[in-house]
Amino acid sequence: MKILGIESSCDETAAAVVENGRCVKSNIIASSLEEQKLYGGVVPEIASRRHAESISAVVSEALSQAECSINDIGAIAVTFAPGLIGSLLVGVNFAKGLAVSAKKPLVPVHHLRSHIAANYLSSSIEPPFLCLVVSGGHSHIAAVNGYTDYKVIGKTRDDAAGEALDKAGRAMGLPYPGGISIDKISPSGNPNAFDFPHPKVDGAPYDFSFSGLKTAIINTVHNSQQKGTEIRTADLAASFQKSVVFCLISNLEKAALDFGYNKIVLAGGVSANSLLRSESEKMCKRHGWDLQLPLLKYCGDNAAMVAAQGYYEYLAGTRAGSNLNAYATMPIDIVKF
Ligand code: KG4
Ligand code: ZN
Repeated sequence: MKILGIESSCDETAAAVVENGRCVKSNIIASSLEEQKLYGGVVPEIASRRHAESISAVVSEALSQAECSINDIGAIAVTFAPGLIGSLLVGVNFAKGLAVSAKKPLVPVHHLRSHIAANYLSSSIEPPFLCLVVSGGHSHIAAVNGYTDYKVIGKTRDDAAGEALDKAGRAMGLPYPGGISIDKISPSGNPNAFDFPHPKVDGAPYDFSFSGLKTAIINTVHNSQQKGTEIRTADLAASFQKSVVFCLISNLEKAALDFGYNKIVLAGGVSANSLLRSESEKMCKRHGWDLQLPLLKYCGDNAAMVAAQGYYEYLAGTRAGSNLNAYATMPIDIVKF
């Protein structure tokens, strides 16, 4: 069964055709990133306007590259939450119109569930497994006990990991998105040059808190500017990245040990990070656990992952009508629409 996936939760307008949740037939992405870079971050109104301009062409191209027409599609899966409302609404309304006109089932998909499903596109992995989902807006440790069965074990109390990296990058004067810039520059820096904290949340050993770490780097930059002392940006980036990755890995390791998981999966934009990937490999090797990492091309926002999760949601009976709405926030484990 072929699913057409549509994604517009942030600044990527994407459409893809995926067969049986695993086999990618096409994967088209139009991004407003270059324009957003001028503003140092995503400007929601610009993102929505670019989605509205490009969604029709992106969906047509996805069908054309998959060498199929809408008649060959079994269901339309669309990201409906969480994300930027104005952005989500473009994808949701396009999908609703297409579903009604082509008489196809409409399957709403949670954005973080789809990030996890990115792993189904490059491997035969099946739940149950323990997943670290780290993106620009979320940082979760989730037990994935079935394709549509999740339990949140830990999450961030303030900033997401990607958000902290992006804000740190901005404080260091690196190009947006800071996460990618920090990953690129860190190998030429000394990760032990600055002793950043490894914040813990009292009484919640699997939760994250990155706001203190973010404040620490902003203060370090301001102090050096005030005193006129020079700091190597690569050292700062490498030290900050090391602290973020340490927090992620140590909580993930504790959760896997405490809850008895030996299959570990990474997902979300930050799962493209080189240090996070190598440290998770080391951790899994230490314990003899299986590790699944998404292909780099499926780490960031794309619609192939939406179509993959859409397939399993379809099998579970998830359907929406033409009153489907978009939601800025939505827990991963209790999805309502
Ligand atoms: O999942 P994603 O594409 O969008 C959201 O759903 O938020 O994640 C975007 C986040 C940004 O914060 C970006 O800086 C981060 O992923 N990111 C990275 C890397 N590539 C993207 N962070 C660290 N290292 C990378 N290589
Ligand atoms: Zn995302």
